[in-house]
Amino acid sequence: MSNKISLALVGVGNVSTTLVKGLEFYKNSTEGLWHPKIGGLTLNDFVISAVYDIDASKVGKSISNIVKNSKSDFSNLTVQPGILDDVVPPHISQNGQAKSSSYDEFVNSLKKIKPDFLVNLISSGMEKSSEKYAKAALEAGCSFFNATAAKTATDKTRKDFESKGTMILGDDLMSQFGGTAFHRGMIDFMASRGILLRKAYQLDVGGNQDTQNTMAEETRERKRQIKTESIAIESPIPFMSTAGTTEYAEQLGDSRVSYYWMEARGFLGSPVELDLSLRTNDSTNGCNVIVDALRAAKKVTTNKDFTKSDIISAYAFKNPPKKMHIRECIKSFEDAFTN
Ligand SMILES: NC(=O)c1ccc[n+]([C@@H]2O[C@H](COP(=O)([O-])OP(=O)(O)OC[C@H]3O[C@@H](n4cnc5c(N)ncnc54)[C@H](O)[C@@H]3O)[C@@H](O)[C@H]2O)c1
Repeated sequence: MSNKISLALVGVGNVSTTLVKGLEFYKNSTEGLWHPKIGGLTLNDFVISAVYDIDASKVGKSISNIVKNSKSDFSNLTVQPGILDDVVPPHISQNGQAKSSSYDEFVNSLKKIKPDFLVNLISSGMEKSSEKYAKAALEAGCSFFNATAAKTATDKTRKDFESKGTMILGDDLMSQFGGTAFHRGMIDFMASRGILLRKAYQLDVGGNQDTQNTMAEETRERKRQIKTESIAIESPIPFMSTAGTTEYAEQLGDSRVSYYWMEARGFLGSPVELDLSLRTNDSTNGCNVIVDALRAAKKVTTNKDFTKSDIISAYAFKNPPKKMHIRECIKSFEDAFTN
């Protein structure tokens, strides 16, 4: 098996284009990288072999037309049509047409390219399409990485992928220092200092297309449930909690602001109250986690030792098959893959 990590990206939006820029930038630098080496692999070991979308304004265009000033090795790749199995997202129906291929055409295209990973970076709310992509990856014999909130990584799918020597990683990417990771870190620190949380909320406001798509009530509720459950694991006692995207504000662009409020109790029930906000950039915030998880997964599939797959998903996703405390999953991940 080649040491290169070959990727097929579905969804050429904010995260995919940032990833393309990152792979170019990190050819000659490590500044801003969380882990320059994972499993002995650097960012120079990534190759993008194919890109897919269903937005007719992107399909047929080259990466260099979509990523401004792109000089990457992948600039000449042409966006191919992906699978569309949901209602067309509003940003596409408003701006133009969708262009898609059939499931069989997509599987055949994947079989020709034979990437190591199909990386699912499509819009929020496209649950059926995401499930079809997972199925297509399994059928084509490549691993699947699901950044979206669709439920694809289960005990059953994990077994199905592993029986073919591949992996499924998911679900719902947890950004490096985004609203959820930071919230979990704060609760973990409180608990480690004996301060017990009673009530908390995290209200996220963002300005990019994905936030806009998340505002659809069903998607928003689904993501709110995932975030709330992901955060709950850090507290030794149950607490009253609400966490989720509350507003789309176009003026924020690709940034996101998380507003936190927490009420906890210490000695003699004395109150500890916290009120703060965190502002980050969405697409860059996801990329360190993506390149870490994919390199670790490449190592696992090369060695055919799937015992560490739970660690990768717990490290990289908000809704993994097996949840771990944030401190524990970072330590286990680094112990397993950075030495
Ligand atoms: N830090 C982060 O940015 C972060 C964190 C957690 C999860 N995610 C998830 O990652 C995904 C990508 O985020 P983004 O900001 O790049 O979104 P985006 O809206 O900028 O891009 C999504 C792209 O997917 C395309 N698309 C929609 N349906 C498709 C289909 N069926 N097949 C192929 N392409 C399709 C759209 O046309 C668009 O180009 C989202 O689901 C998001 O929730 C991102």
